[in-house]
Amino acid sequence: MFEKRKTNPIAVAVALGATLMAGCTSATTSVSTTPAATAAPVQVAMNGTPTMASGVVAAGGENNPPLAALGPVPVPPDNPQSAAKVELGKMLFFEPAVGGDTSTPCSACHDPDQGWGWAEDISRGYPGTVHWRNSQTVVNSAYYPRLFWASSVSSLEAQAKSAAGGAVAGNAEFDIVEARLALMPEYRQRFNEVFGDEFPLYRNAFRAIAAFERAELVQRDAPIDNYFNGDKSALSEEQLRGMALFNGKANCIECHNGPMATDFSYYNIGVPTLERWKEDGLAQITYRYEMYAKGSNEEMYKNYKDDPGFYFRDKNSWNKGKFRTPSLRYTAYSAPYMHNGTLNSLEEVIDFYNAGGGHNMFSKNKSKLIKPLGLNDAEKEDLLAFLEAFSGEEIAIDRPKMPDYAPLFTKAELMMEKK
Ligand code: HEC
Ligand code: HEC
Repeated sequence: MFEKRKTNPIAVAVALGATLMAGCTSATTSVSTTPAATAAPVQVAMNGTPTMASGVVAAGGENNPPLAALGPVPVPPDNPQSAAKVELGKMLFFEPAVGGDTSTPCSACHDPDQGWGWAEDISRGYPGTVHWRNSQTVVNSAYYPRLFWASSVSSLEAQAKSAAGGAVAGNAEFDIVEARLALMPEYRQRFNEVFGDEFPLYRNAFRAIAAFERAELVQRDAPIDNYFNGDKSALSEEQLRGMALFNGKANCIECHNGPMATDFSYYNIGVPTLERWKEDGLAQITYRYEMYAKGSNEEMYKNYKDDPGFYFRDKNSWNKGKFRTPSLRYTAYSAPYMHNGTLNSLEEVIDFYNAGGGHNMFSKNKSKLIKPLGLNDAEKEDLLAFLEAFSGEEIAIDRPKMPDYAPLFTKAELMMEKK
């Protein structure tokens, strides 16, 4: 069996106030390609609109879209890519001024050295809080039609806004963010060049961040891509055996399918309750805050000790405890795993599935697709080797130099005003 993660006493905190995110920017549903995209076929993961899988056993593995190389990144027509926009977005991703007290840029919880996520069970939060969910890797998030573990937003632009503003994440007041950016001449110049802004507009900051994510936080040359693009030596014998298990006996393909290795659907697979919510006061406060903010009823608020997840999208009881099937890409770097980070390694994940998943407060909704697999040790090794093929080189980046503040007017100009 898998073992529970020991709680980490660090209790910084933040949470993405998913409450603040309604109707921000346009949905990213149409697909075009980046200038950098090659002529590879458009195998974009946008094929499946998220459906509400309710644990019904599907007809069988053969109906699933096969694993495949990742195609060019989808770009929404209202936020075209440009080199200058990407460069600006990269600066803003690391820019402390975008967070409430200037300590929570995106990179605070999506650290390039921690798989562009945060290597604790649940994420650090805004100072004085802990988040309530595991911080996902941002790598390849540009391919998701809906973002977050419970898929509450539908574009990277809206996602960035909800992250920057959420009470347990960035907790930013956007007027202040705009004032800060206005007082940095380099940003004034860059926003003007890219968006024509006289003074930087925060909504354009999020468009730039999204452009950066689409350009640089994408990986299309993992061993699995190389293999499906024709390099048959890209996968080892062990990995090929692992792939056969993935598509067969282990039946991972039932949910982790297509180029992104996800069906973009929602399941309760029995991820165990986070023990930390019982022990860590700050974590408990965030849990209660999120339950309240997302509209749980009084009975749930009083009695629940687990994350209802996708339930909050439509309040149907059969969706309690369901979460989006995550991509398996870049997971070699993004431990710990699952929406609450309760599994520490890919070995533990395999043991978890091999045992038929686990239990949580909403196990009534557990998918019938999750059942004991009967994999022996050699098979588990092969499957593990194959999971590693979803990750290529670690994406490292030179952190950009942050611009300095400067007074909006010189002393001389202010004196002129007085006259
Ligand atoms: C305080 C920590 C924190 C900060 C700051 C933060 N995030 Fe996150 N991020 C998280 C957590 C935790 C999640 C998962 C939340 C959930 O699913 O409810 C997440 C999820 C995401 C996702 C969704 C990935 C997916 O697979 O769906 C993206 C994209 C993302 N963040 C980008 C950003 C950007 C851009 C910023 C800066 C504007 C940012 N984040 C700031 C912690 C943070
Ligand atoms: C019934 C659908 C389903 C099947 C079958 C399935 N998964 Fe998953 N997988 C999910 C869902 C949903 C999650 C997220 C669950 C959560 O956080 O509560 C997940 C999470 C994961 C994660 C964690 C990723 C991360 O970023 O945290 C890994 C790794 C994984 N699955 C691998 C596998 C493997 C290997 C198999 C086959 C043995 C498999 N899955 C079978 C639906 C499925």
